[in-house]
Amino acid sequence: LARRVGFGLMLAMAAAGALLVVSQLVGCEHQAAAPRPVVPGSGPPAILFSSGNQGVLAACGCPSNPSGGLAKRQAMIEQYRRTRSGLVVVDAGDTLVDRPGAIKIKYVAMTLGRGGYDALGLGDQELGLGVPELQRLAREYKLPYICSNVRDGAGQFIFPPHVIRQVGGIRVGIFAVVADEAFGFPPQEWRKGLKVEPPLEAAKREVAELRPACDLIVALSHQRLMDTRELAAGAAGIDVVVSGHDERMLPKGEKMGEALLVAAGDEGRLLGAITMTRQPKGPPQLSLLMTELSAQVPDASWVTDLYWQYVKEAKDQPPPDWKDTPVPPAYESAEACGKCHQPEYDQWLTTRHAHAYASIKRSGRQDDPECILCHTIGYGRKGGFVSMAETPDLGRVTCQACHAVTSEHGPAAALKGAPKDPKLDPMININSRLCMSCHGPIQSPDFDYYVYKPQILHKPPKDEKK
Ligand code: HEC
Ligand code: HEC
Ligand code: HEC
Ligand code: HEC
Repeated sequence: LARRVGFGLMLAMAAAGALLVVSQLVGCEHQAAAPRPVVPGSGPPAILFSSGNQGVLAACGCPSNPSGGLAKRQAMIEQYRRTRSGLVVVDAGDTLVDRPGAIKIKYVAMTLGRGGYDALGLGDQELGLGVPELQRLAREYKLPYICSNVRDGAGQFIFPPHVIRQVGGIRVGIFAVVADEAFGFPPQEWRKGLKVEPPLEAAKREVAELRPACDLIVALSHQRLMDTRELAAGAAGIDVVVSGHDERMLPKGEKMGEALLVAAGDEGRLLGAITMTRQPKGPPQLSLLMTELSAQVPDASWVTDLYWQYVKEAKDQPPPDWKDTPVPPAYESAEACGKCHQPEYDQWLTTRHAHAYASIKRSGRQDDPECILCHTIGYGRKGGFVSMAETPDLGRVTCQACHAVTSEHGPAAALKGAPKDPKLDPMININSRLCMSCHGPIQSPDFDYYVYKPQILHKPPKDEKK
């Protein structure tokens, strides 16, 4: 509950921030019609930070979570660039798509490469692609990855350990660390042949190296928040610690010793800005503003263009791999099940699952393979959804999304004398994990099994019937 209250507060704050910025953005869009040389802004320099974008180019536009995505983030970055005298742009990781070979990776990398970032930290999404592939992407798309605690077999850093930028007369040193144990997602293929130094040790070494040359030291820490807190408290001399990986957001930041700890969460919905004001002595004074990349924030049109290019390319390719969810032996329409389960069918028709394709159609995004994946059944699998023209019955979240059986289950199977086969049990996989294969944190941020499940039950729970 405490988390929810904090969250509400944050959203209110962020919404106010977004409104403020939007009015300025509209003005700028107006100017874009007649391009003129970019006049550097006169506002104080700032550090922009983000994390956890998870490969989203353009937000899905659902009412449940219209926020986030690189298109909106980019619009904000460009807005800041126009109004500030200097900018350092960083990201704390989990920004790419973690499916190796996904067509989208190229487009996300292009966006990041052209986006004017100064430093990108690594997360499990990036490392999951394997270091050689990541290094190739970095070369090809000019991605400024840094990492100060991972070395290859020859003892070389896999990416530069840090960068130094000078903005508004302030020298900012940035280094990045990533947790050794990638948070219990075995097997950690990416780790083979690499040496991962404990983040705190690497941080102390970096601070010693950067301090003499820098007025301000920024650490990008891709770890659980508790470990990031430990790093902020344990490595004296860091001024700003940007948390990555952890889902928690810190709307007001946290003071950890001398350091300001900030966190934009792991869903890419927020962009943080730390304004730096120079002091006659000592490090610059810092002030934090978190902005939600909400529906009110427009998209940077060049990123949206890349998104549509991606859709065009992806549309003609085999669909992405589906996750590890139960697969029925063959796909059937809900009507086929409804023949014997009329009451369940009638109730299902009243749920949003029965109309899921309409939502992506309404958004004009029906060609985006990722949208199709969750808003239909069996896409990319044999006999599953292909298109509304070919497989109209499968253009929704049908019975088989939750009950991975065919009409052959139960009685028909029993007649054939089959013993109780768990694969024929239509209830076998119904649990929160199943729902969350579609109700993920980005598309369904409020998902709570115990709140959502009663809404789709075919009949009222037993204790309410009496
Ligand atoms: C195959 C993907 C998929 C699975 C599995 C799935 N859902 Fe959904 N669910 C969706 C989609 C897509 C929507 C939105 C449909 C729309 O309106 O376009 C949705 C909508 C809902 C809604 C309506 C939400 C609202 O705000 O009205 C509820 C409730 C819901 N799902 C519950 C569940 C539960 C409980 C489970 C697990 C037992 C589950 N879903 C499994 C894809 C899925
Ligand atoms: C990982 C699965 C998943 C993906 C991918 C996905 N959606 Fe959804 N979508 C859902 C779920 C689940 C809901 C219901 C969320 C809720 O109410 O909690 C939903 C809800 C929606 C809604 C709201 C429907 C309504 O009437 O309220 C729209 C619109 C939508 N999605 C569009 C899209 C678009 C466009 C894309 C592609 C960019 C997309 N979705 C990708 C799972 C997904
Ligand atoms: C989003 C997931 C979901 C979808 C889609 C779904 N069901 Fe269910 N179904 C459930 C859940 C959850 C239960 C009840 C489990 C419990 O009581 O714990 C259930 C129970 C049932 C039962 C057992 C009797 C009852 O009503 O509890 C039948 C029969 C059934 N479903 C048939 C269907 C048919 C037919 C369809 C398609 C028209 C369908 N289901 C679509 C989740 C789903
Ligand atoms: C030919 C009739 C028939 C068809 C078609 C049929 N079922 Fe059933 N189903 C039954 C009968 C009879 C039962 C109850 C006996 C049993 O559990 O085997 C049942 C039970 C169920 C249950 C509840 C199981 C439990 O443990 O309570 C679910 C869920 C279910 N069916 C899902 C489906 C789905 C999904 C489809 C379509 C793919 C489908 N059924 C098609 C006849 C049918």
